[in-house]
Amino acid sequence: PDTPYLKVTPSMLKRHSGRRGTDAWSAFAGRVYNITPYADYHPGGRGELLRCAGKDGTRLFGEVHPWVNYETMLSACLVGVLVPEEEGSR
Ligand code: HEM
Repeated sequence: PDTPYLKVTPSMLKRHSGRRGTDAWSAFAGRVYNITPYADYHPGGRGELLRCAGKDGTRLFGEVHPWVNYETMLSACLVGVLVPEEEGSR
């Protein structure tokens, strides 16, 4: 069946770089999350976390702490799935 998730393209992701303070999105392993609600709780600090805002953070995340279970921690913050540019929801 069709996925119920929003299809997020790299350019949509880029528009959610968190400059307004409330809408920082990042992609990890093909899933897009709103990382803003977590920013104040991140043990590595807000600034470190926001380095991946508006981008695919998979590599950076893996370099720092591959053992962290973000899928569970951020399950309530799931926005959608990352798709190629031409397959976006809008
Ligand atoms: C530490 C979660 C993204 C940098 C941690 C820890 C957690 C966590 C649970 C503590 C880990 C431990 O002590 O074993 C997350 C989640 C992320 C995320 C859920 C994604 C949404 C990032 C990114 C960066 C980063 C993108 C780097 C640019 C750090 C650093 C620490 C840390 C430097 C070490 C803090 C310290 O021990 O002093 N993060 N993180 N994190 N994180 Fe993240």
